[in-house]
Amino acid sequence: MTTSLSPWPYPRLIAHRGGGRLAPENTLAGMRAGFEHGYRMFEYDVKLSKDDVLILLHDDDLDRTTNGQGPAAARTYAELAALDAGAWHSPAFAGARIPTLQEVARYTIEQGIASNVEIKPCPGREMETGTAVALAVRELWRDAPVPPLLSSFSEAALTAAHVAAPQIPRALLVEKIPTDWRDRLVQHDCAGLNVNQKDVTPALVQSVHAAGYRLAAWTVNDPARARQLLDWGVDAIFTDELAAIRPDA
Ligand code: G3P
Ligand code: MG
Repeated sequence: MTTSLSPWPYPRLIAHRGGGRLAPENTLAGMRAGFEHGYRMFEYDVKLSKDDVLILLHDDDLDRTTNGQGPAAARTYAELAALDAGAWHSPAFAGARIPTLQEVARYTIEQGIASNVEIKPCPGREMETGTAVALAVRELWRDAPVPPLLSSFSEAALTAAHVAAPQIPRALLVEKIPTDWRDRLVQHDCAGLNVNQKDVTPALVQSVHAAGYRLAAWTVNDPARARQLLDWGVDAIFTDELAAIRPDA
């Protein structure tokens, strides 16, 4: 029996956190930098503010990427929006704000950019974040030609997203590849598996494809490794090195 591969309407190169290293992560300024470097798909991290607004932020805490301190979960959207999310990167980006998912939907759809929305819940908010992201994505991208790919390290979030909006494609994101990855992909009705690039081998690509799924690898910052993974048939790579790894090369 031949297994057919799941649909995959996405580019093979994905700008990690929007703008990679070029600009502050998870900001519109970062995405503009990614766009200028030819990238047409961005990965970004989404969580809920205290008052249930979906915003872009990687860490649980504000300290590394903003001028705020402590858990993001304790802040309302108005408090988060008042923070500087760019000065930590470089003075040129001072004043960049934490964007909402709604703002990012508008920008990416206007520019024809595909999205991988990584559901990155604040601790304890896994299911409600999965539900909120899936419902928001279904609504915000309802007229877009390509739906975002949802992914998460949290299987609780992925389950909630699946229940809320089953038609939005999903990928299981894993730190380490579980031995039962096929069962988990079936369970969450995923299109693909997103793995640490260090774990990718030609045999893994072959097994994942033979099972009917797509394989994406994060985070690939060495151009030679990027070439190798793409030559092996990996469906997409996430990279921070937007100047060295070019979509048009
Ligand atoms: O989604 C791929 C990658 O972003 C996962 O790791 O920590 O950068 O969100 P992290
Ligand atoms: Mg991420």
